[in-house]
Amino acid sequence: MCYISVRRLLGYWLWLSPSVASAAYAPLREYAGSNFFDGWDYYGFHDNTTWGNVTYVDRQTAMSSRLTYVNGAGNAVVKVDNTSFIQNGPLVYRNSVRITSQEVYGIGSLIIIDVRHIPYGCSVWPAFWTLGSGKTWPQGGEIDIIESINLLPNNQIALHTTPGCFQSQNLGQTGQTTEGDCSTPQGCVVRETKANSYESGFAQAGGGVWATQIDASGIFIWFWSRPDVPENIKTSNNASSIDTVPWGIPTASYPADGCNISQYFTPQNLILLTTLCGNWAGVPGIYDSTCHTPTMSCAVDNVVGPGSPTYDQAYWEISWIRTYTLALPGQPTTITSSDPPVQDASSMTVSRGATTSTTQATSAALTPGPTVSSAVSSTLPTTSCVFGSVLLVAMLGNLMLR
Ligand SMILES: *[C@@H]1O[C@H](CO)[C@@H](O)[C@H](O)[C@H]1NC(C)=O
Ligand SMILES: *[C@@H]1O[C@H](CO)[C@@H](O)[C@H](O)[C@H]1NC(C)=O
Ligand SMILES: *[C@@H]1O[C@H](CO)[C@@H](O)[C@H](O)[C@H]1NC(C)=O
Ligand SMILES: *[C@@H]1O[C@H](CO)[C@@H](O)[C@H](O)[C@H]1NC(C)=O
Ligand SMILES: *[C@@H]1O[C@H](CO)[C@@H](O)[C@H](O)[C@H]1NC(C)=O
Repeated sequence: MCYISVRRLLGYWLWLSPSVASAAYAPLREYAGSNFFDGWDYYGFHDNTTWGNVTYVDRQTAMSSRLTYVNGAGNAVVKVDNTSFIQNGPLVYRNSVRITSQEVYGIGSLIIIDVRHIPYGCSVWPAFWTLGSGKTWPQGGEIDIIESINLLPNNQIALHTTPGCFQSQNLGQTGQTTEGDCSTPQGCVVRETKANSYESGFAQAGGGVWATQIDASGIFIWFWSRPDVPENIKTSNNASSIDTVPWGIPTASYPADGCNISQYFTPQNLILLTTLCGNWAGVPGIYDSTCHTPTMSCAVDNVVGPGSPTYDQAYWEISWIRTYTLALPGQPTTITSSDPPVQDASSMTVSRGATTSTTQATSAALTPGPTVSSAVSSTLPTTSCVFGSVLLVAMLGNLMLR
């Protein structure tokens, strides 16, 4: 009871003090450096989901043949085998890697990946994506964060779900929508329009960063090429909280008014892979739209043979992946709708997703408007009336002094 009233008072205080930042997300886990490959499972089987010409090796093979390792710069490298000679035949498999995080990330999560190099080249099909746990695809939902093929210049973002999930018209996004129905085979696709999101241009710009917000209010994905990475990400480390408010409009927005996120998305595993050819990169008509090789067969002209120089650019180089959560462990996540509407003027100018997410994931029952940050609420003691009263007196004193 006392907690609610302290919250209300805090709300008024925030309303009167628009300079209070909403530091929304607390760090959960970092995959980086010598610990990058902890907490992942290696697939250990050939590509039986997109029918590429690869075997995704097990951990021991990946480590011993250096398809996964940490390089001198401390970055994780995940690559396609470019040292083995592969013969032609009825079945053609070159070694590659598919890893799946052991942890899952549900509504209220933020996932940020800092990448230096993404695999590219004819036949190459890399993806960093998430897949709903505990269900048969696509019943748990799928979020494709980084995905492109061959020599295409741009990244493509997509969601995959069962029927009934659409990208709403009520959008703030910089990317270009090419399909709005998430249950179609290609999913609801948003093509990146910013420069240097894939291929050689991405690497030459120094790579870039993607942030994916999975929230009750929607799914929102931002991309920044290296020179445009926001200050609060550039200056963060693995212990920093992260606020989405300064990021502006996302590349791709999937607001909940077109897709009930909690209905279509179970907690998500992270997946990183590179396949070759298969049912996107290798499809005749798609393959030869950017690749003009001798026989125009994706596998024969690329996978078959020595592997180098064909796959010299077919590697991921990743500085880190960090995951965050709205709620701090052991802290309250429910706010009653009796809290006053608190509006931070600075946050009203940014996109819908960025503004409303903190509150909606904190409590789906919350009326629109409040922007009380979870970090502020989380750090507030839930039970101490004495503390609340002291805080109140201090705040009022502070206000009167202005
Ligand atoms: C953060 O990074 C430091 C090294 O920079 C490492 O020792 C520590 O384990 C990391 N913490 C997490 C949560 O990954
Ligand atoms: C792919 O193969 C693995 C290993 O045999 C199996 O567990 C999995 O169910 C298969 N996946 C599909 C989609 O067939
Ligand atoms: C790989 O490449 C060959 C072409 O040599 C193709 O016929 C085959 O269907 C492809 N897929 C697999 C899984 O081997
Ligand atoms: C969204 O889905 C959840 C879980 O299936 C359900 O409880 C909720 O009522 C749905 N919300 C709306 C607005 O349909
Ligand atoms: C294979 O690719 C790596 C970069 O991923 C490159 O350094 C190497 O020279 C390539 N060729 C061979 C034969 O290893």
